[in-house]
Amino acid sequence: MEATQSTIQNQGSTVSSSRFLRACRRQQVDTTPIWLMRQAGRYMAEYRALREKHGILEIIKTPELACAVTLQPIRAFNLDAAIIFADILPPLEGMGLKLEFGKGEGPIIHNPIHNSVDVDALRVPDPEESLWFTLEAIKLTRQELDSQGIPLIGFSGAPFTLASYAIEGGGSHKYLQTKGLMMSERALWHRLMTKLSEVVGHYLLAQAQAGTQALQLFDSWVGTLSPADYREYVLPYSRRAIEIARQANVPIIHFGIDTGGMLDLIRDAGGDVIGVDWHIDLDTAWRWLGPDVAIQGNLDPVALLAPWPELKKRAQYVLDQAARRPGHIFNLGHGILPGTPVDNVQRLVEFVHEYTFSAG
Ligand code: CP3
Repeated sequence: MEATQSTIQNQGSTVSSSRFLRACRRQQVDTTPIWLMRQAGRYMAEYRALREKHGILEIIKTPELACAVTLQPIRAFNLDAAIIFADILPPLEGMGLKLEFGKGEGPIIHNPIHNSVDVDALRVPDPEESLWFTLEAIKLTRQELDSQGIPLIGFSGAPFTLASYAIEGGGSHKYLQTKGLMMSERALWHRLMTKLSEVVGHYLLAQAQAGTQALQLFDSWVGTLSPADYREYVLPYSRRAIEIARQANVPIIHFGIDTGGMLDLIRDAGGDVIGVDWHIDLDTAWRWLGPDVAIQGNLDPVALLAPWPELKKRAQYVLDQAARRPGHIFNLGHGILPGTPVDNVQRLVEFVHEYTFSAG
């Protein structure tokens, strides 16, 4: 039988038997599950239309809008999981930092952290108080997704990646101030990271309690560190955040970019699924990580801008590297890019399902 989109609807009739959650648990699946980081975003006309009327923080803080945006890619494509529409930075607002998304410049923190007075002033608020809007959006979205058997992923930035924004005041290339503080003000660094790990852990836990069936920790920029620095200055705090979130008993995906030199440390910090980017072949990553974790990844998002035959070849390479080991979740190695053609997303989702389909 030819495997078409309509024949490869999600195999599970309930969320817990969905192929995404089965793959997180390294169980057998009918076909490899796929979702895409930043799957709700500017490459979609529906999203751009909404953004003409509303700012990004306004969407995030209005549960009905956040829910509607979360569902846009689910309606458009046969994706195996939804991710709640939010950003990694709002938790910093609750701690006392002033966040703005400037036009075209990315996020700005107007009062970045410089010294111990700044760190001591940071609050560690209850997520129900400071991030109620995302928890509410999760409840609304679950009502929509349950009947379709599609799981919902909650997420948070990891302590290091959040610290980098809090210290640099925005995005960075070299992380000079972040690493400078880490290397020269050891005690201060540990105080900052302790606060961040509490905020992150409790935010993740609250999202799962509000209804997400999986959680992803985004340590996007941690690849800027040496393995030794990761082990000493970051691992204990990511581990602490994951330990708190684990109480919810849902799978945790631990993701970072350019982590090919420290995958064992990322795994040791925790997570049921390790997210990897395209700097490492999946087969190599698997041999390094061993059989006790699942892997998510790892197509270069730029491949989605290429003509379909080239994109298909590259998607096939990722799938051949995974070789249908139990516990592969197809994803990009980083977020989908704004100029991505919607047709390519459609074809990629269908291809991943068709290529790996086995009637079992
Ligand atoms: O995956 C999803 O669909 C859920 C939504 C989501 C967003 N941001 C929405 C968003 C997720 C999971 C994130 C995570 C995020 N945000 C990360 C970690 C993953 C990564 O990309 O590394 C980081 C570092 C951020 C911080 C951030 N948010 C930056 C640097 C920017 C500006 C750069 C850019 O891409 O525009 C954002 C803005 C942002 N967050 C947008 C979206 C859809 C684009 C803003 C817009 O609509 O104008």
